[in-house]
Amino acid sequence: RDKLLFSYKGILYPVSFCSPEVFRSMESLEARSDDIILAGYPKSGTNWVGQILSDLVAIFEKKTQNKESSENDENLEEFPYLEMGDTEKYERMNKLPSRRVIFTHLLPENLPRSIFKNKAKILLLLRNPKDVATSFYHFSNGISTLPSYETWDDFFVAFMTKKMAWGCYFEYLSKWNKHAADENIMTITYEELKENPVLGVKNIAAFFGIPLTEKELQSVVERCSFQSMKKNSQKTHGAFGNILFRKGGVSDWKNLFSEDQNEKMDKAFEEHMRGTKLGAKLKYDVYCK
Ligand code: A3P
Repeated sequence: RDKLLFSYKGILYPVSFCSPEVFRSMESLEARSDDIILAGYPKSGTNWVGQILSDLVAIFEKKTQNKESSENDENLEEFPYLEMGDTEKYERMNKLPSRRVIFTHLLPENLPRSIFKNKAKILLLLRNPKDVATSFYHFSNGISTLPSYETWDDFFVAFMTKKMAWGCYFEYLSKWNKHAADENIMTITYEELKENPVLGVKNIAAFFGIPLTEKELQSVVERCSFQSMKKNSQKTHGAFGNILFRKGGVSDWKNLFSEDQNEKMDKAFEEHMRGTKLGAKLKYDVYCK
């Protein structure tokens, strides 16, 4: 287990995806005001919302006839996760045309400073902690690059004692809560997007200044539904697709959590999030009780 994760500035990361060298070179990223940053704790629905954002950018480019980006062979795609890659990644990213879509699981304080300085817009994606833990448990046991757990109880202890890759869920939310009122940040929850994807996609597009016709809106919602993404997953994510697109719903935690674990999670939520803007946004009493 220890060999799969390393610690950097007090947070654990998987060795197969991240490295201290890459973290150090990340500061050279020159963020832009038209960058589209998707921030979220792992298993909050990053791939889903990431697909929505990529589709929106494709529509935007088609409309603005940004020929440079479609015709320039130099513009090779980068793996969209900011903190995963090699040390030269940021030099290459600096050369990519706008608009760039960048995903990250990092705490705000660990992001390249230019993101805040240059007022890049950030979409902060949240998901209720019980479904995040449930999703993370299955995911960890599904891929060899993350520690696996013999039992759900073992995983739960690790989740509650800050032993997860990308750090502690509650610390993540507390740190981002300090930015919750920033004008360049929009928050959205997995649950609200699931409940009303049309409204969610509409709001996301408006925040990033992407005009959409009703037909375009419907097509993004349809292409990014769990069913379509799962169906396509072999093509988009290979063998990894089956593990990633697992259930795609709300409340699967009810199949795993014991009474005692519910109490522990409720207590942690009270301690860290009650009364905070992000805490209210999560609607804990609706989705976690
Ligand atoms: P489950 O494990 O609960 O099914 P991330 O992309 O951040 O790793 O998050 C993965 C979670 O998002 C998984 O949750 C996955 O099924 C869910 N997900 C992926 N695509 C989705 C979609 N189009 N709609 C709803 N949920 C989706």
